[in-house]
Amino acid sequence: PLMGDLFGLTELAERLQHLLGIPHVIVVQGNADHSPWVKEELGRVGARMLKQYIREGDIVAVTGGTSIASVAHHLSPAPSFRGVQFVPARGGLGERVELQANTLASAMAAKTGSSYRLLHVPDRLHPEALQTLMKEPQVQDVLSLLQHSRIVIHGIGDALAMAKRRNYSEAELAELQEAGAVSEAFGYYFNAAGETVHRMPTIGLQLEDVQRAETVLSIAGGESKAKAILSFARQSCQNVLITDEGAALAILSER
Ligand code: F6P
Repeated sequence: PLMGDLFGLTELAERLQHLLGIPHVIVVQGNADHSPWVKEELGRVGARMLKQYIREGDIVAVTGGTSIASVAHHLSPAPSFRGVQFVPARGGLGERVELQANTLASAMAAKTGSSYRLLHVPDRLHPEALQTLMKEPQVQDVLSLLQHSRIVIHGIGDALAMAKRRNYSEAELAELQEAGAVSEAFGYYFNAAGETVHRMPTIGLQLEDVQRAETVLSIAGGESKAKAILSFARQSCQNVLITDEGAALAILSER
């Protein structure tokens, strides 16, 4: 029998809490790699958790990607969203417009009747151009909001899968692999020990901002993300992880 038959979802979640050191883990049924409805379920639970943790006047940093897009899709108004500002965690990260942090921050605001800010930074900027942009008052404003985010809601990706999605060249992919990159979140690439091995040349939420945030909600499912979820957990910054059975079973069999 497969492990999934032996352990219920609650038991899987408890085992992950223990193994990853994350206080609150929720495991939904299925494997997002194979069934699209699992991502819907991740988003539904993600929206419920955000609603549970949100407080009036909060600043919420939001990343891009399909998992967070699913959260946005499932959000609905609640009194606690009063005065909330959704702020994109990063400028462009090579995502399609529908999946960019800017788009999802505005979608979350629309769904909950709150407000949002935008961070206009083109992908893969030259360092000098970045420096210039960072001096723009509008950009500084958003960066300072990000430094004060109380909640971060973000996706986690497999490092190489994300680099390919971002059209990295063969040489760049080889470099990442050489560096031992395993996971990716908000433009940072981490190795299995959780050390940063590469960063996207963009501006926005910094790892220190994430560590400072009171509540960090991660949404990531699918067996293919098992190693990435383990790698990112080394940051010891997550309060809530919403994942699926596929990822959970693969993580537990990693050891
Ligand atoms: O590109 C934004 C981002 O949040 C990445 O940081 C992360 O690795 C990825 O999206 C997750 O995307 P998905 O939820 O589609 O797997």
